Parts: sequence; C-alpha cells; structure tokens
Amino acid sequence: MPRTEYAREPLPARILRKARALFGPTGMFLKGFAKNPVMVGAIVPSSARTITRVLAPVDWAQARVFVEYGPGVGTFCRPVLDRLRRDGRLIVIDTNPDFIRYLQATIRDSRFSAVLGSAADVGEIVAAHGFAQADYVLSGLPFSTLPPGVGPAIMAATHRVLRPGGAFMVYQYTARARTLMRCYFPCVDRGLELLNLPPCVISWGWKT
Ligand SMILES: C[S@@+](CC[C@H](N)C(=O)[O-])C[C@H]1O[C@@H](n2cnc3c(N)ncnc32)[C@H](O)[C@@H]1O
Repeated sequence: MPRTEYAREPLPARILRKARALFGPTGMFLKGFAKNPVMVGAIVPSSARTITRVLAPVDWAQARVFVEYGPGVGTFCRPVLDRLRRDGRLIVIDTNPDFIRYLQATIRDSRFSAVLGSAADVGEIVAAHGFAQADYVLSGLPFSTLPPGVGPAIMAATHRVLRPGGAFMVYQYTARARTLMRCYFPCVDRGLELLNLPPCVISWGWKT
C-alpha cells in the first residue's frame, strides 16, 4: 500500500495490519477473528500440545485421505503433512477466503489442497479430488457459534464421508460438539487439554 493510503487507513485497520506484520500467522488469525468473530470462534491458534494430543490416535499408515475443517492459518497443516504418507492427501476446507489465500500462498506441498467452502459440503469436495471416502477428518470449527442447523449438517456429512474405522477428531472450547457427535457416532473417546488458550475439550468419534 502506498504511504498516502496508509495515512487514510482507519485506526483499527492500521492496528490490525501492524499486528499481522508483527506476529505473522498469529496476527493473520487475529485479523480473521476481528473480521468475523462468530465464524472464527477463537483469538489465538491452537497450542503445540493440543496438536499432539488431537493427532495421537491417528494410524498414519492408514491415513491416505485426511480432511481438515477450519484450518485457519494452518496451525495443524504442517504437523499433519509431516506425519502423512508420501502418497497421502490433505484437503482443508475453510469459509474464510483470506485464510484460504494465505494457506495457498504459504504451504507448498503437492499433497495439500486448500478449498474455499463449507465443511457441510465435504462429500462433494472429497469426490472432486477423486476420492470416495476420507480416512480421518479433523475439525477446529466453533460448533457452539455456528448458525442453526449447520452443526448437525456437518456431523451427518462427516459420518457419510468417513470410511468404516475412520475417525472424526474435534477440538473445541465447550463440550457442545461432543453432545452433537454422540447422535451420529456411537463410539466417542474424550480428552481435555489444559495447555491451550483457553483449555480445550477434545472428542474422537469413531465410525464403526
Ligand atoms: C477456531 S478457528 C480454527 C483454528 C485453527 N484450526 C487452529 O487450530 O488454530 C475456526 C475456523 O473455522 C472456519 N469455519 C467456520 N465455519 C466453517 C464452515 N462451515 N466450514 C469450514 N470452515 C468454517 C473459520 O473461518 C475459522 O478459520
């Protein structure tokens, strides 16, 4: 942006731009939260400890198609790609075009696709990549603040797209998603990670 345009920039936008430049991905995340707090639902990305806990039950040898909802600035993307098979695929879906552009610009890996869309359309998105099913689905979606009906639609679509034996892994700041998950996944494992801001509730729903 030319200097004269900086001068015309409103103060909140200037503060956000400076925060983004100063804090990198965290600043970018903060900008996303300021623009749409209900859809983003968190002010900082997940901690390294949360990432390790959430991914712990994944059988990486069986993880060919891995889907992530709400990747934000990609906090989980690199750790997933580091563990994923060489012929695996990581498809991430987010409704925020700024986050999708950021991910496409910063993650260069032939196994990675960042799609602008809703998690409720996961079946169509996975099919468009040439796959019938997903092995694992990970979600950082703010289920408690999603518009009415969206949470159940995402749970149903996720259950349909998963292969038998696959898992839906959800981390959230409340147990709301777990309650919803039990309607679709009869077998749900539970966890709580205190070293996260704020502490988060983890649920692993297994498709039997
Ligand atoms: C809490 S943030 C994600 C945090 C990030 N995964 C992390 O670990 O730091 C929630 C994300 O969900 C996205 N989102 C909200 N509703 C969505 C939907 N229906 N489908 C896909 N993404 C959605 C938001 O744009 C935002 O990027």
